[in-house]
Amino acid sequence: MSDNPARHEIAHLARVELFSPKPDETVDFFTRFLGMYITKREGQSVYLRAYEDPYQWSLKVTESPTAGMGHAALRTSSADALERRAKSLIDANIDGTWSEDQFGYGKTFEYRSPDGHNLSLLWEAEKYVAPPELESKIVTRASKKPLQGIPVKRIDHLNLMASDVTAVKESFERHLGFRTTERVVDGEVEIGAWMSSNILGHEVACMRDMTGGRGKLHHLAFYYGTGQHNVDAAEMFREYDIQIEAGPDRHGITQGQFLYVFEPGGNRIELFGEAGYLHLDPAAETQTWQMSDIDTGLAIGGAKLPWETYFTYGTPSPLALDHHIERFAHFGPGAEVPSTEPVPDVVETPQTVGAGS
Ligand SMILES: [Fe+2]
Ligand SMILES: [Fe+2]
Repeated sequence: MSDNPARHEIAHLARVELFSPKPDETVDFFTRFLGMYITKREGQSVYLRAYEDPYQWSLKVTESPTAGMGHAALRTSSADALERRAKSLIDANIDGTWSEDQFGYGKTFEYRSPDGHNLSLLWEAEKYVAPPELESKIVTRASKKPLQGIPVKRIDHLNLMASDVTAVKESFERHLGFRTTERVVDGEVEIGAWMSSNILGHEVACMRDMTGGRGKLHHLAFYYGTGQHNVDAAEMFREYDIQIEAGPDRHGITQGQFLYVFEPGGNRIELFGEAGYLHLDPAAETQTWQMSDIDTGLAIGGAKLPWETYFTYGTPSPLALDHHIERFAHFGPGAEVPSTEPVPDVVETPQTVGAGS
């Protein structure tokens, strides 16, 4: 892996756009509960950043009939690296387009993962400069820690659901120089892969969509760096009726501390405690988990990752979350995927759609 010429050409995950059918409530979730700052409102979108995010925004919430991921953008390690990574994709006949239309960022190469996820690469990113009232006394901090909710420090990672994990993994390895730090196999089939371009255990993960769907978002994660914050956040979410899916606990895979919740628009959000295992060894090999050890892999402390959601629900979802849970209530290992015949062709949308902003 260490002889891949693309290695280290991607620096990190810079930003993600989430779609929400309830944009006001979604923005409220990220500002009131997670302490994120709004840096701009424009049309049907709101741009947000956490207090240690270095750029103008790391999260864009855009009003849409369905939840899901608009796009995710990775920042390269140089302008030349951006050209090389785009060329690698183009040379492999992957359709891509150049654009320069996002607030706070420059020239961007947009393409799709083998499963259809919208991905972007960019180099030019405008640094956030805090106004005097938000300047931090801590020089590495882009803005003051807010007195609001339990504030997250920064965007952390992205987890994509895919019909074919291996194809997505190989695309990240070949074209973006990611290394796969850990994976899960069920016999010969890869059902999960955790990939990184730096010392973190993962910037991007990919898990198999047990419903056979394509191109969905599993979750977007934000970083606390402190496990206790996950416990405190669980209390906050319980008190204020934000739906908790699982946690707080620690994964065996990545050793990351997790808490999964559903933001009001229906997207799954992970709060990430400690960063987990750091990959300092440049010659480290991919570590493989077998299904026989999956309980340790998923949650060391025994937290239940529910089959009716964790392994089946991603966004956009053909069913709203409560109806998805009803439909998949009896789904589990070896069970057949419930019929989705009664589901209309158009994706179901929640009845109360926010007024927009
Ligand atoms: Fe995650
Ligand atoms: Fe996780």
